[in-house]
Amino acid sequence: MYIPFRKELTVNTTLKKGAMHKKTLSDITCKGSRVLMRVDFNVPLDDQGNITSDKRIVEALPSIRKVTESGGRLILMSHLGRPKGKVVPELSLSPVAGRLSELLDTKVVMAEDCIGTGVMQQALALQDGDIMLLENLRFHPEEEKNDPEFARELASLGEIYVNDAFGTAHRAHASTEGICRFVQPSVAGFLIEKELKYLGRALHDPERPFLAILGGAKISGKIDVLENLFGKVDAVLVGGAMIFTFFRAMGYETGKSLVEEDKVELASELLETARKNNLRMLLPEDVVAAPELAATAETRTVAVTDIPGDMMGLDIGPKTIDSYSREILQAKTIVWNGPMGAFEVEPFAEGTIAIARALADATAKGSISIVGGGDSAAAVTKAGLAQGITHISTGGGASLEFLEGKELPGISALND
Ligand code: 3PG
Repeated sequence: MYIPFRKELTVNTTLKKGAMHKKTLSDITCKGSRVLMRVDFNVPLDDQGNITSDKRIVEALPSIRKVTESGGRLILMSHLGRPKGKVVPELSLSPVAGRLSELLDTKVVMAEDCIGTGVMQQALALQDGDIMLLENLRFHPEEEKNDPEFARELASLGEIYVNDAFGTAHRAHASTEGICRFVQPSVAGFLIEKELKYLGRALHDPERPFLAILGGAKISGKIDVLENLFGKVDAVLVGGAMIFTFFRAMGYETGKSLVEEDKVELASELLETARKNNLRMLLPEDVVAAPELAATAETRTVAVTDIPGDMMGLDIGPKTIDSYSREILQAKTIVWNGPMGAFEVEPFAEGTIAIARALADATAKGSISIVGGGDSAAAVTKAGLAQGITHISTGGGASLEFLEGKELPGISALND
């Protein structure tokens, strides 16, 4: 099966529209109105329920401040985790209300639920500049089902709807998509505007050379991104365990490395597509291998053509780090999604950290660097390099779907 290049996706009109023609918070007046704002406060928590990264809360502050400082009565709503339609006390948004209150140095009222008479009364009692946070939307199964009645009930709490939850914009849920049918105006917040500015510009009007770095364990998770980016970038650097599926397709021995057996044919078609279209798709020349994925494992750096049968590749090697870093330093726009190796285990973190360092160096020289959320964002933060990157997306799945050229329903539903 030949996978045709989907060149027609190179300009995605819906997203272009989304990026350029959606109404935003700057277009509306909030004074005296109840402003219902969907945010993505799905933050990571440790075993004790402490927030381990408040990035998503911090990134929502400009929109929050804009509403409260202009006299709006703010009702925030979000999901947290995947409680699957049941009340899970550990997934209450209460700690988030606490953190938000600290960041703003103001009181944040925590609601007991997200719908119902009690919540409505609390909403109606809000004064100009007040803030209330609704309880986890996903405690109700209707949220993920995009149930119209649930969306209508949520909508009835506010008079204006703002969506600033870029991280959840790829989900057509009641609070992101369905709600827009019941409350007008429906506009984008500043975080969504910022995300679309960076990601949209990279995809549609990049300064060249434009380089994409794709990592992660599986080709299956990145196939659409590869296809969509192939038509736009000047080169793609590939890392992460998905390289081994390509190497298997090239006929190399991959030892115990992770290979998606059912994607080997697809990998060879991708390689062929890249070759036919003269696309520079670079694969590593060496890897750090070990008998198992363990912090104590004995490691060895080997050429990719020489992986021992009893070992698995778990990170890119030093020669690859060198050549990839040189490519990065020559690029003017760089988009990175997915780690280069098993970075969460110390001996296999160097490749990912080195790429983060190269991105920060390129940025210091004036290039635009964009890190898609999820694991690569976590790696950049872990390496202490977040300040050196132009834009780190708050969206994991959402930024991936954007890079795939897909429509984001939470953005499409907003007023043009
Ligand atoms: C995310 O963290 O990617 C978003 O908050 C969406 O969460 P979900 O994958 O559970 O829908």
